[in-house]
Amino acid sequence: MKVLVVGGGGREHAIIKKVKENPAVTEIFALPGNGGIAADATCVEIGATDIAGIVDFAVSNRVDYAIVAPDDPLVLGCVDLLEEKGIPCFGPRKNAAIIEGSKVFSKNLMKKYGIPTAQYEVFADVQAALDYVSACRIPVVIKADGLALGKGVIIAQTREEAVSAVKSIMEDKQFGKSGDQIVVEEFLTGPEVSVLCFTDGRCVKPMISSMDHKRALDGDQGLNTGGMGTVAPNPYYTGAVAQRCMEEIFLPTVNAMNAENRTFKGCLYFGLMLTPDGPKVIEYNCRFGDPETQVVLPLLKSDLLTVMQAVTNETLADTPVEFMDAHACCVVLASRGYPTHYEKGFEITMTEEARKSTYVAGAALKEGKLLTSGGRVLGVTAIGDTLENAIQKAYALADTIHFDNAFCRRDIGVRALKAQAEE
Ligand code: AMP
Ligand code: GLY
Repeated sequence: MKVLVVGGGGREHAIIKKVKENPAVTEIFALPGNGGIAADATCVEIGATDIAGIVDFAVSNRVDYAIVAPDDPLVLGCVDLLEEKGIPCFGPRKNAAIIEGSKVFSKNLMKKYGIPTAQYEVFADVQAALDYVSACRIPVVIKADGLALGKGVIIAQTREEAVSAVKSIMEDKQFGKSGDQIVVEEFLTGPEVSVLCFTDGRCVKPMISSMDHKRALDGDQGLNTGGMGTVAPNPYYTGAVAQRCMEEIFLPTVNAMNAENRTFKGCLYFGLMLTPDGPKVIEYNCRFGDPETQVVLPLLKSDLLTVMQAVTNETLADTPVEFMDAHACCVVLASRGYPTHYEKGFEITMTEEARKSTYVAGAALKEGKLLTSGGRVLGVTAIGDTLENAIQKAYALADTIHFDNAFCRRDIGVRALKAQAEE
């Protein structure tokens, strides 16, 4: 069986390593993949947003199954076009991917179906938005409607920051057309939890919960990044919270999408905040999270490809999705200066043992050498029977990997350890 995976980051590497465990898989193509993924799949220089190129490649190489992992191709309708050519896919169609592609859509969906989320207003007019933020409660959260490479959310701590956020998104078009409309919403507080769910539109099977670490520096300081590390499970996500989320958030969301004739099939990511008033949705993603996937999939006991095919065939209810009773920690190694200015092209050296536990996000192969090619370079995941053990093993492995100017946060999982101790 030939499997195609669209994307080329740490998340895709984690998906590929897991899919490879299925004995029916004979070849995996990664479009475009990266220099690290090349050890586990055939990488082909076709970009993740080159939808026509992806479809042509899938057809001419007689691909049997396609997994579309990143948000852009999903929102652009990659799954619809592959399906038209008779290629079964994992991932939502365009009309369902809008749940991530438009924050205005997702907020209105939650309001219409009573799904708990922050109070909000939508603006398409700059002056109306400026008038609103000149009088609203502060802090306030300002979000560009469309995709913005994960940078479209601004938490304004002062009125001046709110005004400048509105201007930079709506007037200066910092995120292009993604800022034609904005959502201005209430600032919520509480621990954050990521829950990735498999759904075939009929049933929902949540994966093990996880915790991201978005800020660049220790102690949650510094700028927001694509994620500096993760742990799973998330200690704040107790059985009681999980049950409440299923009843108040997960099932109502899947049902709401069905009611809107936008059945969601694939991985639906719930970014949740456990507020004093109960769990609320901070964001939906129409895909696996990065770097959540790098701790969630290593703990999956069931065969990933089998589960994905059950989603495609709408037989998820009959397909077990089981996780190990263990903990995982992923530590991201980045290039110093990330997420703003950093250099590329440093040679990466790692032992075979480290490589087995590594998901490469930004590296290129040049003359047999693996060179850094991005800000976030790789993630190292370790599994342990306790959280402490997983964290310690992940750092021990990370410290054996070398490239010039490498840095990582030294406190991945520390907040989770504290939460465990408070239980
Ligand atoms: P996103 O870019 O959508 O992942 O959002 C980035 C981060 O902004 C989230 O992980 C939250 O920490 C924070 N955030 C988003 N919306 C809110 C909100 N309404 N209240 C407080 N924090 C928020
Ligand atoms: N880790 C957050 C995301 O994948 O969007």
